[in-house]
Amino acid sequence: MRLSHTLLLLFFPFLVNAQRFVRFISTDNRVYNGDAILPAGTTDAAKSRAARVITGDILGDYKITSQVKSIRKLLAPLPNERVRTVRCVGINYVSHSEETGADVPEWPILFYKPFTALNTPSDPIPITEGYRTQGNFTSKMDYETELVIVIKKTAFNISEDEALDHVLGYSVGHDVSHRGWQVDRGGQPRPQYSMGKGADGWAPWGPAIVSTSIIPDPQTLRLWTKVNGVTQQNETTANMIFGVKQLVAFFSMGITLLPGDVIFTGTPSGVNLGKANPDWLKDGDVVEVGLENVGTCTNVLKYV
Ligand SMILES: *[C@@H]1O[C@H](CO)[C@@H](O)[C@H](O)[C@H]1NC(C)=O
Ligand SMILES: *[C@@H]1O[C@H](CO)[C@@H](O)[C@H](O)[C@H]1NC(C)=O
Ligand SMILES: *[C@@H]1O[C@H](CO)[C@@H](O)[C@H](O)[C@H]1NC(C)=O
Repeated sequence: MRLSHTLLLLFFPFLVNAQRFVRFISTDNRVYNGDAILPAGTTDAAKSRAARVITGDILGDYKITSQVKSIRKLLAPLPNERVRTVRCVGINYVSHSEETGADVPEWPILFYKPFTALNTPSDPIPITEGYRTQGNFTSKMDYETELVIVIKKTAFNISEDEALDHVLGYSVGHDVSHRGWQVDRGGQPRPQYSMGKGADGWAPWGPAIVSTSIIPDPQTLRLWTKVNGVTQQNETTANMIFGVKQLVAFFSMGITLLPGDVIFTGTPSGVNLGKANPDWLKDGDVVEVGLENVGTCTNVLKYV
């Protein structure tokens, strides 16, 4: 008793950095920022039922309080409008370039999604009538699991060595993709990334932002996708062509990265686009995207 008390006193002053930033609705129906408390035996923040409340701004000065609130529903870790730019990387795993017949890129392939594409770790992914049927065009919905980088500090013209100082942490993201618009109507070899990937709700992310103190090396994490419970993607971030440091430094060469900006870093193999007999996603399909030590987002496709 006395020993643990002493340990607490000793360690308390060092507990200044949150480990798993979450934003959630509590049982009092109010929205809080918090540091997720993990249940025993899991590192999936989506399973957290409570969090220590954080006051202030997680992108600036904040304080982790001793107040614990229960989690009724996890939201995206930042409100959509705090994320001023959603950067996404095209082909960034050799396995994905091989399955899609794309060249291994010499430089990172960058495209953007509007922040209206961001979605929570659990809400439906809406597929509008236009995206399903426009011009009698068959819907070809696909999944992509990705490691997401969250920028903490403004970055301009920084080196790879400086890159991680500008990162708050990592989330898992789902780069929802309509291959019909992205590829078939893209005027190959120029894909229409924005038409194919930018619709409202087509970027679920979360369930937490796991800090760089928990994940000092982001190139060692397993990431996976399950569709209706069946594993479809399962690879490691060690296989990224351009790693986190390279991407952050490269994108900063002439564009300012702002606090709260996120970077979806590309998907490994296993997507429908790479399959001989694709099983395109349809209304009611449940997609889980997962990242080791971070957690899962589980969203259902919904025709609206
Ligand atoms: C779609 O197909 C239906 C049935 O073949 C046809 O009646 C309709 O005119 C088509 N619509 C468009 C926009 O091509
Ligand atoms: C970018 O960084 C390099 C190396 O630190 C420096 O020489 C150069 O002046 C910087 N350019 C701009 C536009 O800040
Ligand atoms: C992914 O593969 C690893 C190594 O083979 C295995 O341990 C793990 O269970 C797989 N994950 C999923 C979600 O299938």
